[in-house]
Amino acid sequence: MKFFLDTADVDAIRELNDLGMVDGVTTNPSLILKSGRDITEVTKEICDMVAGPVSAEVVAEKADDMIREGKVLAEIAPNITIKVPLTWDGLKACKVLSDDGHMVNVTLCFSAAQAILAAKAGATFISPFIGRLDDIHLDGMDLIADIREIYDNYGYDTQILAASIRSVNHIIEAGKIGADVITAPPSVIKSMASHPLTDKGLAQFNADWAKTGQKIGK
Ligand code: G3P
Repeated sequence: MKFFLDTADVDAIRELNDLGMVDGVTTNPSLILKSGRDITEVTKEICDMVAGPVSAEVVAEKADDMIREGKVLAEIAPNITIKVPLTWDGLKACKVLSDDGHMVNVTLCFSAAQAILAAKAGATFISPFIGRLDDIHLDGMDLIADIREIYDNYGYDTQILAASIRSVNHIIEAGKIGADVITAPPSVIKSMASHPLTDKGLAQFNADWAKTGQKIGK
């Protein structure tokens, strides 16, 4: 299971990357805003740090403009993945950019029908948004399962990049279904290490150890 970090916070990326836990990064206009950084500058810094794909998103709405912006973003580094929205124009841009040899991540996917079109347009990654479907009382995980089944039925090699991940359970469920990649905020990845029984067990060990009066080493 590949882990992408859904952030443009370079310090947070560095911490997890140093642990070997980062297979890639995804950004979007909201995350660039949150970083307070210039898109080219921060994206270059991320690409220099992380070996895997780094998604940078176009903001144009017409295919030709998306293609032009995508090519500008791709100049930043060889590991840039151009992120385009799942609109008709986005699919046109996906086809041109992927035929041109670029990695393309088609984002804002909310249905299996959209995911089929992205695969046919040559997407490297499809990004179904789990949390935002849950927000409107649909089951984001059903979408991941539907896309997995359809892609496997026809041997599409577009990778399912489960996005809008909000919890550890989202990661586990996406993994059980067989999403190729999850992208999550660093805080969610770090919270995977937490378990109340670990904390309880550690407190007990520490209390018992104190009673022994012993020390390890000097
Ligand atoms: O990768 C997409 C992600 O950034 C959206 O997450 O939590 O804003 O729905 P969220």
